[in-house]
Amino acid sequence: SRSFTVLALESSADDTCAAVVTSSGNILSNVVLKQNHIHEGFGGIHPYRAVQAHQQNMPIAVRKALNDARMNAAEVDGIAFTRGPGMTGCLGVGSSAAKTLAAALNKPLVGVHHMQAHALTPILTSAPNPPTFPFLTLLVSGGHTLLLLATSITQFRILATTPDESIGRVFDKVSRMLALPWSVKGPGASLEEFVAASTVQEDLALLMPRTMPGILRFSFTGLHSAVERFVTARGGTEALDMSTRHALANAFQKAAVGQLEEKVALALAWCEKQGIGVKHLVVSGGVASNLYLRESHDPILLVFPPAELCTDNAVMIAWASMHRFLTGNTDDYSVLIRPKWSI
Ligand code: KG4
Ligand code: ZN
Repeated sequence: SRSFTVLALESSADDTCAAVVTSSGNILSNVVLKQNHIHEGFGGIHPYRAVQAHQQNMPIAVRKALNDARMNAAEVDGIAFTRGPGMTGCLGVGSSAAKTLAAALNKPLVGVHHMQAHALTPILTSAPNPPTFPFLTLLVSGGHTLLLLATSITQFRILATTPDESIGRVFDKVSRMLALPWSVKGPGASLEEFVAASTVQEDLALLMPRTMPGILRFSFTGLHSAVERFVTARGGTEALDMSTRHALANAFQKAAVGQLEEKVALALAWCEKQGIGVKHLVVSGGVASNLYLRESHDPILLVFPPAELCTDNAVMIAWASMHRFLTGNTDDYSVLIRPKWSI
């Protein structure tokens, strides 16, 4: 039978995304319009600036997604959007655009859970040998620090998350605190590059606290504070020579990745105790591009979706909506966004 084609929109945080994907897994287009430059000076996403940028960028993203896919809007079979979780005003832009498109084109509509979409990405990207349920997903980015157990296409359980800053933001902050050389890939990646570029290092591992040993919960603020205390005690960033910065960055990266490994091991032990046989660990999100993390060895099969599908994108939203379109489980126009939405 003919495949089903979805146009999906994503606007839960600071990226405006549109994509066209078919039910056979063909990615016909994948547009991501970033707005990092707008939020650079705010130490986080500025909520109203983000809404404004989405309002300006969404039509551009939709137009480009259709152009890239060489399709007319009328040839699309369904419209998907991110329903939550995310920033209220941001979600509203994608939701309104998707509903209006669905109504104008008279096509079915599906609102998708953003985290479920992240978790289902490897099924699309690892075809024809996708991870098999149940599998673990470690989602580590600027927005998320999550360890999930996926037991089916609709069933997920959070095994560990963080009550404070995400791992990606802490990489960014530590990198900025050490005034590391600029990288196109951002401050987190520049920290990794900086560490990899040097070999002679003083060992500062002892400075780094172990976070809640034995407990299935993440926290990276302790590592952040440890770096901050050290820098302050030495008279500030300018007073640190490059080899000390190397040592600090190295100790931080080791401890941060070490914490991920420790919590994954705990989660695997928990699964085993529950009689849940997990074969795959999917690692995704911006931090998953960290080579030091990729080289670390876990006892199970590691799956890394391609970087461009780990960061926020609309391909994953289209993909996560597919089973609902195909079973006729669609939403009507009264569907509301859910800024807070447990998985
Ligand atoms: O998934 P992502 O691109 O988007 C957001 O969630 O916003 O993740 C971005 C995060 C940033 O905080 C960045 O510092 C981090 O991923 N990141 C890295 C690396 N590349 C990006 N962290 C550590 N090592 C890297 N190589
Ligand atoms: Zn995300």
